[in-house]
Amino acid sequence: MYKVEKARIPDVPQIHKLINSFADKGQMLARPLSEIYESIRDFFVIREGGEVIACAALHVAWSDLAEIRLVAVAEESQRKGAGARLIAACLKEADELGIATIFCFTYRPEFFRKQRFSDIDKMELPRKVWTDCFRCPKFPNCDEIALVYRAGEKS
Ligand SMILES: CC(C)(COP(=O)(O)OP(=O)(O)OC[C@H]1O[C@@H](n2cnc3c(N)ncnc32)[C@H](O)[C@@H]1OP(=O)(O)O)[C@@H](O)C(=O)NCCC(=O)NCCS
Repeated sequence: MYKVEKARIPDVPQIHKLINSFADKGQMLARPLSEIYESIRDFFVIREGGEVIACAALHVAWSDLAEIRLVAVAEESQRKGAGARLIAACLKEADELGIATIFCFTYRPEFFRKQRFSDIDKMELPRKVWTDCFRCPKFPNCDEIALVYRAGEKS
């Protein structure tokens, strides 16, 4: 059973490498090392033999809104439940913070639907959400799918 832990500073180069390995294949957006250091407190990781094999971040956007982003599981560790455990950890932290609505932008909507996220029209999300989008190389031609999880709602 995978153990999910809060990330620590020494994990940053490995998180960066993991995310950018998928970015190189067009499966995620690349992130600079500086951004991962700045947001390290958002991250959960799963380690195996001292190596980070999976990560995910919960980023608070507003009073009742957070984003799950940068979910990545090393290829050889996929389809073994690591991604689901990371999402559960993010949702638990959101609940502890008192945040009921969690959204994501992704190229893997099926994975998030399995975690009880529902599709949502991007335009329905508050404008605050777009702050990061302005920095995205794909803006305004976003091809990611938006999904939302609302605590307390039955799927
Ligand atoms: C998407 C990703 C995070 C899934 O992680 P994972 O550890 O393989 O997922 P899990 O094993 O926890 O799967 C949980 C469920 O989602 C399903 N699932 C996982 N990846 C899926 C996919 N690509 N398509 C459809 N279903 C998928 C699993 O079958 C499983 O279903 P079950 O609950 O019925 O058994 C992983 O494939 C990954 O890192 N991909 C590259 C990066 C990326 O695309 N990240 C997207 C988020 S921004």
